[in-house]
Amino acid sequence: MRVLGIESSCDETAAAVVEIDNNGHCTLLSNVVVSSLDLHATYGGIVPEIAARSHIEAVIPVVDQAIKASTDADDPWETIDAIAVTYGAGLGGSLLIGVLTARTLAIIKNKPLYAVNHVEGHLYANFITAVGSSPALSGLAMPASAPVFPILGLIVSGGHSQLVLFEDHFKYRLLGQTQDDAIGEAFDKVGKLLGLPYPGGISVEKQADLGNPEAFTLPKSKMAGKYDFSFSGIKTAVLRLAQQQIGEDFSFPSTQIAVRLSDQQKSDIAASFRRVAIATVVDKAVQAYEEFQPKTVIIGGGVASSPALRQALAERLPIEVTYADRKLCTDNGAMIATLGCHKLFYNQPTADPYELDIKPNLSM
Ligand code: KG4
Ligand code: ZN
Repeated sequence: MRVLGIESSCDETAAAVVEIDNNGHCTLLSNVVVSSLDLHATYGGIVPEIAARSHIEAVIPVVDQAIKASTDADDPWETIDAIAVTYGAGLGGSLLIGVLTARTLAIIKNKPLYAVNHVEGHLYANFITAVGSSPALSGLAMPASAPVFPILGLIVSGGHSQLVLFEDHFKYRLLGQTQDDAIGEAFDKVGKLLGLPYPGGISVEKQADLGNPEAFTLPKSKMAGKYDFSFSGIKTAVLRLAQQQIGEDFSFPSTQIAVRLSDQQKSDIAASFRRVAIATVVDKAVQAYEEFQPKTVIIGGGVASSPALRQALAERLPIEVTYADRKLCTDNGAMIATLGCHKLFYNQPTADPYELDIKPNLSM
């Protein structure tokens, strides 16, 4: 069975087709992602109106390309068994475009519709296996087999930081989550403070590679919830550290700091921040691993592509962690189609194409 997945929760307009076989193994047949990131870069963050307008322009061509690339059939729609779409969490205007497109297609093509939680979707990128994937996608590094339950899932993206324990598909428990900023958001804000190109994740990572991670001491948050995170404290601590490094007090504007920092200072701040931010999530993941003894640990979300995070987890966990290809860590339609495939396979409830509404604040 084949599912078309549509994703538009932030700045990526994405669609993909995934096939699930009789044993429940998922194969990626096509994957198309168009990002409006460049349009946001000059503003140093996502501008919701620009993102929504870009989705309107991109969504139909992206879906068209994804279904055509997935098959040689004369009518590619005949090969599609269902449509899955992200209905939350995300930016309202952005979600609307994907959801209205999916609803319309479900009605006119007469296909069942599945409403997918974006955050759950990130973890399902790990359920796509390399076996049988379309030749065009064989360059992606995918695992040979799907993760085994019980699974500990760590979601680290620009909008989410969560630890989840899965007993089985659709049977999970949220162990903890961020109480304020997400880890990716903290990377992005530190990048902005240091005057690095947007988005901050990759830029901070590159700058950090040149610095001394022990140069500065930064606070690790202590939360009431055993598995909860917080990243607003470290963000403010980095601001104070940067002000102090240029000999100014707390009232000095953050936007004027970067030009007065040397390259070495930027690298040392980035490296120290990355060390502590990563240790914050790794500490909790290790603690949860020890308590629940899962068979597999999987990671999802943009920050999962961080080599430093991957290395820290490898050093501290006794089992190997499963990763999706970096291209499938950031937002994409493949992860949505894969969760849709599992919903179809396990007879989960469908959504009403005449009724499905967006849920910008949807949680797990
Ligand atoms: O999953 P994603 O594409 O979007 C959300 O659902 O939020 O994640 C984007 C986030 C951004 O904050 C970006 O800075 C971060 O992932 N990111 C990274 C890296 N690559 C992307 N953070 C740290 N290291 C990276 N290599
Ligand atoms: Zn995401």
